[in-house]
Amino acid sequence: MGTPVPAGPVTAGEQVLLVDSKDRRYLLTLRAGAIFHTHAGSVAHDDVIGLEEGDWVAGTTGRRYLMVRPTLADVVLKMPRGAQVIYPKDLGAILLAADIGPGQRVLEAGVGSGALSMALLRAGASVVGYELREDFAARARANVTALLGPDADYRVESRDVTEGIDELGLDRVLLDMPEPWRVVEHAAGALRPGGILLAYLPTINQTAELRRVLDAAPFGLAVTTEVLQRTWHIEARSVRPDHRMVAHTGFLTWARRLHRRDPVAEVSAESSPDATADPSA
Ligand SMILES: C[S@@+](CC[C@H](N)C(=O)[O-])C[C@H]1O[C@@H](n2cnc3c(N)ncnc32)[C@H](O)[C@@H]1O
Repeated sequence: MGTPVPAGPVTAGEQVLLVDSKDRRYLLTLRAGAIFHTHAGSVAHDDVIGLEEGDWVAGTTGRRYLMVRPTLADVVLKMPRGAQVIYPKDLGAILLAADIGPGQRVLEAGVGSGALSMALLRAGASVVGYELREDFAARARANVTALLGPDADYRVESRDVTEGIDELGLDRVLLDMPEPWRVVEHAAGALRPGGILLAYLPTINQTAELRRVLDAAPFGLAVTTEVLQRTWHIEARSVRPDHRMVAHTGFLTWARRLHRRDPVAEVSAESSPDATADPSA
């Protein structure tokens, strides 16, 4: 089940976020005796340990920082990365689209920097990750441990998901890798009926290929969507959308594992005339 979110004064070993007056954000893990260096002086970790969230700490040059525990979105945007992470706006949508909940058995590939892994684990899922690159797998494990501790229900294997999935009776298969259509057959074998396959893809060409392969497999109720998020500038009488936004990240496609394909549709597809045949013949 999910890890409880800590409250009260921050302690050594915890991650905290320091925010300066220009909204520059720094993520650090508190260690007794350590010093955090920025381009504008340094902050002693010991001056932060024991503070309540929402308190202020001064650096050596007098610069002040607001200190809070980071949200999951803060961590995703600030943590060390091996591969490109899925952005918070998409992570939230994925949790709902794939209907992630406590105790669900999830296979995730590729794992990359572990951003999606963190969101799944925080929602209470039990996650097995397949990741092609050992250095990315190690990065994801380290990021997950930094956020959730060493007891997270998380195992990452260094392997190619297109070569097969060993787990059986899975509730969910989540894919963030370039050719998810090469995993559809394996996912059909690994998911329980009613389970959900979800893929995150940067281009619509890839998405169309995935949909074509899903249509020919025991999957149904397929949906493709993208999430647009526009932030607003709100200051005194200047209230308007921000000038810049992240216009595109990726497309989400998800579908349900059917017990079997629609037998009536299969029969009518077999008996219908070929679309290219002369109907008068
Ligand atoms: C964009 S990153 C995933 C980022 C991750 N979802 C996150 O939020 O941090 C894509 C990852 O897929 C991995 N990958 C690509 N093909 C793969 C395959 N066939 N099997 C397993 N992992 C694969 C890559 O090594 C890379 O780490």
